[in-house]
Parts: sequence; C-alpha cells; structure tokens
Amino acid sequence: MITDSELQQFELDGAVTIDTPLTSQQITEASQLMERMLPVGPPRPGEKNPRYRVGKNNVYEPAFTRIIEQPFFESVAKRLLHTDSVVINCTAIRNTHPQPGTNFEVGEHTDMTLSLMDLTSTPRRMNVGLFVWITDVDETSAPLMTRPGSHRQLAQSMGNKPKYIYGSWEKDQYANVPDAHTLPIAHTGRFPNQWPDLEFAEPVPCVARAGQVTILNPATIHGASTNVGQTNRKSLLIIMQPRSIALGESKDRCKTRRAYLAQLTRVLAPNRRHIAMN
Ligand SMILES: [Fe+2]
Repeated sequence: MITDSELQQFELDGAVTIDTPLTSQQITEASQLMERMLPVGPPRPGEKNPRYRVGKNNVYEPAFTRIIEQPFFESVAKRLLHTDSVVINCTAIRNTHPQPGTNFEVGEHTDMTLSLMDLTSTPRRMNVGLFVWITDVDETSAPLMTRPGSHRQLAQSMGNKPKYIYGSWEKDQYANVPDAHTLPIAHTGRFPNQWPDLEFAEPVPCVARAGQVTILNPATIHGASTNVGQTNRKSLLIIMQPRSIALGESKDRCKTRRAYLAQLTRVLAPNRRHIAMN
C-alpha cells in the first residue's frame, strides 16, 4: 500500500512513483500485446515523419483488464482521493518508440485546473492518473516530465474565484458545467500560453522500473517527452475519480466514457465490476 511519506510527496509535488504487486508475467503479457497493437505509425496527413508515439484510448483486452482490475490501484486511488469509493474515468495505452537523432522535447500542459479547495476537500474534487509502467523508463526513454508543486502554485494564483476552463468554450458542448467557476472539468487543462507568470520548478523526469506506477495529479504541469534512448517506453494509464464527485466534462467525452465503462464492466472479473459501474 502507499506509505504516508509517499502520500505526502503526492500532495506536495503532484506526482509520486511507487511499487505495485504486479507480476512479471502480467507485465510481459501487456508488453507483448502493446508490441503487436502499437507499431510505429504512418505519418499524419501533411506530415513527413512516422508516428513514434502511438496509442489507443479505452482498452478492454484481457492482458490490460487483468491489470486495471487489480485491487491495489483501487485502494491507492481511494487513499489519494480521500474517499471510500472510486470509479474508473478512462484508460489508455501508449508505446513510444525510440526516435534516434531527434531532440528531446516535452509537450507541457495540465489536464485539469484545480483550486486550493479542490485539492484539500474530502473527497478530493479531482481525478488521479495512474501511469503503470510496462517497461523500465530512464531519462532518455520518453519519461513523463512533471514540474513539482506546480498544481499548488496554479491553485494559489486563482484564490477564491477559480476559473476552471481556459480559451473559448461553448456551454452546450459540456455536461455538468453550469459556468466556468463552479466545478472542476475533467480533461480541460491549460497550455504554456495560458499559465500565469510564475516561477515554476524545472521539469523532472519520472524514472521508474517496469511494474511501478507514477500517480499524477492532473493539475500538475506535465508532458510526454520524445524517446531519444534505445528502448521502447510502454505505459497503461488508468484514470480514477471519487464516485461521489460529478466532475464536468464535454458531452462527447461523457458519451465515450459511458460506452467504454459499459463495455469494460462486461470483461472485468465479476467481483471487480464495481470499479467501472457509475
Ligand atoms: Fe496530460
């Protein structure tokens, strides 16, 4: 289980990497399936280079669902979110292939904007991202990069009048979003040109061994990086949220999420189905 000091690191830094009880066989099966499902992709329209970072959202293949349904991840998410019941929001797999001779770059952003109240209330008014590492990740093999403490700096800068959505948006495209100030909105983050002028920590790589998990607060500045190393980087992301907190989201996302959870419920072990039932 997650320790008190790991929990404290998550609160302060917005990210922490911990061990899990996953077996080497579970990791190997997930790795081999990602190898088959996610080869280097053809260039996007109008681009020259092949796609080295390939993925699929919302997976339900047995090699992945046996990991998703591990009681360990549910228990950790409950503790982090200060709640006695959590539900899956979405899942995703990524295989980032080595891209030799390229520059190391990071696509930085946040995925949610949170106020100090959201970060401290019980349950927490947010979701958490669990990045399960299917391969070892070092500084060169496309590590997830984070700016420690940036979630708290961004929250503090909003004071008592949080603004949860940036850039242009239309209310009728969102579910459960009465206005920009009432409720955090899942997967609606901010990019560098939307950050306040603050001194954030330099980005640090989340280095891990296969079978470990990095837990990320989605309001922490983070980003995927390019793979300038020699080995593939594979991850399985599980996003969970408190069952009792209805976060805002786009109507499209809401529809996709509901359809996925209905499908996922059918392939989870009977005693684990509650983690996908909302
Ligand atoms: Fe993200």
